[in-house]
Amino acid sequence: KSIVVLISGSGSNLQAIIDACAAGFIAGRISAVISNKTGVFGLQRAAEADIPAVVLDHKAYPDRQSYDAALLQSIDSFQPDLVVLAGFMRILTPEFVGHYQGRLLNIHPSLLPKYQGLHTHQRALDAGDTQHGCSVHFVTAELDGGPVVLQAKVPIFAGDDATEIAGRVHDQEHRIYPLVVRWFCQGRLQQQADKALLDGQIL
Ligand code: GRF
Repeated sequence: KSIVVLISGSGSNLQAIIDACAAGFIAGRISAVISNKTGVFGLQRAAEADIPAVVLDHKAYPDRQSYDAALLQSIDSFQPDLVVLAGFMRILTPEFVGHYQGRLLNIHPSLLPKYQGLHTHQRALDAGDTQHGCSVHFVTAELDGGPVVLQAKVPIFAGDDATEIAGRVHDQEHRIYPLVVRWFCQGRLQQQADKALLDGQIL
């Protein structure tokens, strides 16, 4: 299977997926990494793994529609079976999301449906939660609202700060994202409207 990974930053989730492909855990290969930001560490990770890397700077486009149209064209030139958002910090248009429906995954650093949007670790802390985590989900037009495939929970301990919690969540992200991509590439995972199915069973 051909996988295209979109990033905006450090790309530690990208790395986890690169490693899982290299180890044969994922039956697929990353055909391209696309970043909306220049100079981010994830691009270096792609270069080190000999993966074609593209920078598509959103600031060079007048609006979201035109950026997403260019992004779509760039992605499709790699003929992906799956598009993986791995810390891609942009809201996508419904047209874009519709085009990739059923083959577009995201990872979000909260136990969805809690804390959609930004600053999830601080919000969990402020709410006095004792549990937090991350979710891999199919992307739909609703921001961070698509069907969840897999979640991992982490504890929040008294005295934790947001950085400590973020580290704990990240470790779990690197476990669950490759696993979900593995399932997808095995043909076991599907999206049906607002549901995720694993081996035909609703998750
Ligand atoms: C992760 O915390 C992910 O959940 C969020 O952005 C972060 C990306 O980290 N959407 P990295 O670039 O994969 O290191």
